[in-house]
Amino acid sequence: MSAPNKSYDPVEVEALKPEEIERMRDEALAAFAAAADLDQLREAKVAHSGDRSPLALANREIGALPPHAKADAGKRVGQARGAVNKAFAARRAELEAERDARVLVEEAVDVTLPYDRTPAGARHPLTTLSERIEDIFVAMGYAVAEGPEVETEWFNFDALNIGPDHPARGEHDTFFVQGDEADGADSGIVLRTHTSPVQIRSLIDREPPVYVICPGRVYRTDELDATHTPVFHQVELLAVDEGLTMADLKGTLDHMVQALFGEGMKTRLRPNFFPFTEPSAEMDMVCYVCRGESVGNPDKPCRTCSSEGWIELGGCGMVNPKVLTACGVDPTKYSGFAFGFGIERMLMFRHNVEDMRDMVEGDVRFTRPFGMEI
Ligand code: PHE
Repeated sequence: MSAPNKSYDPVEVEALKPEEIERMRDEALAAFAAAADLDQLREAKVAHSGDRSPLALANREIGALPPHAKADAGKRVGQARGAVNKAFAARRAELEAERDARVLVEEAVDVTLPYDRTPAGARHPLTTLSERIEDIFVAMGYAVAEGPEVETEWFNFDALNIGPDHPARGEHDTFFVQGDEADGADSGIVLRTHTSPVQIRSLIDREPPVYVICPGRVYRTDELDATHTPVFHQVELLAVDEGLTMADLKGTLDHMVQALFGEGMKTRLRPNFFPFTEPSAEMDMVCYVCRGESVGNPDKPCRTCSSEGWIELGGCGMVNPKVLTACGVDPTKYSGFAFGFGIERMLMFRHNVEDMRDMVEGDVRFTRPFGMEI
């Protein structure tokens, strides 16, 4: 910096000439106006009003001027710097407002947009297992038949040879919706206790030969616990044709367990009684876990069949001629077989589900591991 000099003429200092100061100011104002964003404005500020800007350097020259020239030069530089600072502040306010407005738009979250990560959910294994069983029989030419869940006592019991005083009625813990034959009503209305009334409806609606598979929801007045639920599902099968025998029933059952549990599976029949089938049997299948190897083999116990080698599936038999007659089918010409079993029970041993309550709670954490099988 120059030393004080009495004969010094400020006009001679290039940087302090009025037009120079004006040029510096105008350049600064132009640069601020041209700054497109806050970063560019910051750069323009360093260049035009920072410590090393032409105006700052000019300001330093003032100190070297003779006293009479200082006031004038100081005033002009001061005004120019004031204008520059004001322009900077104004432009910054403008750019900040622009940025804030832009951020509001760019970072806005449209809460009405469709959510692209919807959890896939899961179909209930009771549905998929039931459909799988239907498919096995549809592939063999059976039709899927359905009936109402609110059923007359006649369809649920009488037509199935379970008369009003038949002890089998007592075994079905029935929800009565309206009336009760025991109280003298013609035919009460019940929540069906099994899918067998769909046998009756199918025989009335269709001409033999009849081959139907009837999946559906059934109701009994059981308390909900680990092995009972008042609402459960059965699959019923009915075949009525000329010349059907128990061998056809046995072959059909074996085919079903092989399709569901793998090759080599088989069933066995144990004598039983159902009013609507004669003869009747309880059907068991070989335990698909130990395949019977746990029987008499304490070293290899099987939890699935309690080391019995067999798992009870449900009931079956040859359609009672009385049922055929009740449905207008000639029992001297036609014979048939039927079976029915619970889907919940099958799901329990097929997938090691230990508590039936898990199946009714509708918790997706239970259904999801079964996958999306469609
Ligand atoms: N409906 C019987 C029950 O629920 C099962 C069954 C169906 C038995 C078909 C024989 C024939 O217990």
